[in-house]
Amino acid sequence: MENVTILTHPLIQHKISLLRDKNTGTNEFRSLIGEIAMLMGFEALRDLPLEDKEVETPIETCMTPMITGKKMAIVPILRAGLGMVNGILSLVPSAKVGHIGLYRDEETHEPHEYYCKLPSPIDQRTIVVTDPMLATGGSAVSAIDFIKEHGGKTIKFMCIIAAPEGLERLHKAHPDVQIYVGHLDRCLNENAYICPGLGDAGDRIFGTK
Ligand code: PRP
Ligand code: URA
Repeated sequence: MENVTILTHPLIQHKISLLRDKNTGTNEFRSLIGEIAMLMGFEALRDLPLEDKEVETPIETCMTPMITGKKMAIVPILRAGLGMVNGILSLVPSAKVGHIGLYRDEETHEPHEYYCKLPSPIDQRTIVVTDPMLATGGSAVSAIDFIKEHGGKTIKFMCIIAAPEGLERLHKAHPDVQIYVGHLDRCLNENAYICPGLGDAGDRIFGTK
């Protein structure tokens, strides 16, 4: 699938395996989510444009590459996407942060919006949407619909675990969005949870339930 990158780095794979373990507690789970987001961000941002700038070293003046061009916005899908923000901010501290609040209805599995706030204007920014879980894809598609309605154009979506169903739905709805996946899992179960997955990401990050 064009515009879909599955990240195979051993550090990412190892840390995802630790996340899956039901005995991994909240504190460690939250740290791992942040570390994985940083490692994934390192890959997902490898196309940031560079421009040579003049710098004076203690020895001489030289032209040396620096990141240029579009500014960035990180947009987590609440709640679980919040866990990935600091990992990416540690790479790009100047990024602005928007928020999209969505929860899945337990019966229909359809997303419901309860809060949205984006940096304005958004159209000139590279937007990185974060959510650890891409299950049916409903939340990711709605979040990106909303961002596009508000003028967002250059959008990347980062998830730690995806189900094939969600990946296909998101790619079909938004073929222009670059999607980065930590691991592609087997399938969804009857409750639209990812198998083998890691359970409810929001609850495990925030210690609820
Ligand atoms: C989870 C997860 C995604 C969504 C994925 O959030 O963090 O946002 O489900 O499912 P989908 O691809 O089928 O839409 P949830 O609705 O449980 O909210 P929470 O993060 O507040 O717990
Ligand atoms: N949301 C989660 O947190 N986990 C899943 O497996 C599916 C949706």
